Amino acid sequence: MAVIGNSGAARLGCTNDLQSRGPGQQKSMLMRLTGMLGFAVARARCCAFHPAKRPNSNLGMTVAATSRAVASPRVVSIDDFRPIAQQRLPRAVFDYLDGGADGEITLRENCRAFEDITFRPRHAVAFPQCDLKTRVLGFDLALPAMLAPVGYSRLMHPDGETGASAAAGRAGTGYILSTISGHAMEKVKAASPGPVFYQLYLIGGRGAAEAAIERARIAGFSALVVTIDTPVAGLRERDFRNGMKELMGTNPFTKIPFLPQILSRPGWLLGFLLDGGIPALPNVVIPGKGPMPLVDVAVALAAAVVTWEDLRWIREVWRGPIVVKGVLTGDDAKRAIDEGAAAVSVSNHGGRQLDGVRASIRALPEVVAAVNGQAEVLMDGGVRRGSDIVKALCLGARAVLCGRAYAYGLAAAGEAGVTRALEILRADVERTLRLLGCPSVSALDPSYVEVPASWEG
Ligand code: FNR
Repeated sequence: MAVIGNSGAARLGCTNDLQSRGPGQQKSMLMRLTGMLGFAVARARCCAFHPAKRPNSNLGMTVAATSRAVASPRVVSIDDFRPIAQQRLPRAVFDYLDGGADGEITLRENCRAFEDITFRPRHAVAFPQCDLKTRVLGFDLALPAMLAPVGYSRLMHPDGETGASAAAGRAGTGYILSTISGHAMEKVKAASPGPVFYQLYLIGGRGAAEAAIERARIAGFSALVVTIDTPVAGLRERDFRNGMKELMGTNPFTKIPFLPQILSRPGWLLGFLLDGGIPALPNVVIPGKGPMPLVDVAVALAAAVVTWEDLRWIREVWRGPIVVKGVLTGDDAKRAIDEGAAAVSVSNHGGRQLDGVRASIRALPEVVAAVNGQAEVLMDGGVRRGSDIVKALCLGARAVLCGRAYAYGLAAAGEAGVTRALEILRADVERTLRLLGCPSVSALDPSYVEVPASWEG
């Protein structure tokens, strides 16, 4: 892949030293690039109007070929997706997916903290079948893991949110669609036979949120997930260094220094252009104005802080179940229940918001104790293996939400990658249960694990 990327960049006459060239050379290179991009965009438009001409989103690869690209032995664990995603995506997009806030302490800690928990297996027991089913908000899931909301999924792969939702539905589990999504919510819901939840940010204001809630109701979304840990966006340093804001912006000149990383991934670039380029946000429709352009998320979030009063308002507008996502303390969990939440998700946004907060799994016991059975408890952050899922269930989570675990798969191979990620997690959970000597996820409890003494009490 790296070789293809480099030779592709060479064919485009682009090297990493675009800026260091003389003005004449720069101008002629830019004209060549503009011409090529113009051609690709024109072709993309033509394909958009003639769906029959539109190649599949993996650029001619068949579904079988895409599935083979992420089959064993190339991909045996979730971690194996990461380098494939890294080779396919421009650095700005990969780092957006992979990175966290500030020094990325919480990002690392989310995964590491699972290592502090050890198993206490019961050996010499046999059971013919292993039951992986759980129930979340009244919906039966074949696997105790749902797909978390991941913004800009359509930048990672044209399959984006629709592909992820379809893969989740086929695996018998649920998908949570982010507000910051590139496919229309009706299409995302229609892609899955399973439950699909809508994650709500108040970007675009209450008018846009109310319209989205109504659309979600009509489309058949099963629950609303209100994320409360984004009063402003965390400082994702990698995004700044890679020029994410400039690349998403409208000024072509500010993009120039960051273009080489994009051009070094011609496969991704072509797919992106054929998919129509930078999309507007089809699920954030501002009354009287239309879909919000894909703006700098930091600016949008800073203007959209969710408060407990907003939650009360949301409660009135949405009659279905509400999940409050981003809870890290027992007090916030109790407050969420008082405001009408049917479930809370213990989450630090995958280490992308306040760096230095506890790992989600570390915060889970406190939240489970505070909730005391009054609501369902989910958790997300750092889940990369089925054994992580089992540990979270032992500590009281009803199910986990996976973020990067499936998003790396999506970035590597679209819908086929998400399907493979879910297959890996499903097989992991079953194997872990059998090795633990536990016949069913519903029988998991704290007696199957040992946690450090400092976690108790
Ligand atoms: C997220 N997350 C997220 N959460 C949310 O409520 N709305 C959103 O739009 C997004 N967007 C988003 C983008 C990307 C690229 C990532 C990695 C994460 C957070 C997500 O739902 C979940 O909390 C974390 O991903 C869980 O951590 P892991 O599983 O990625 O370690």
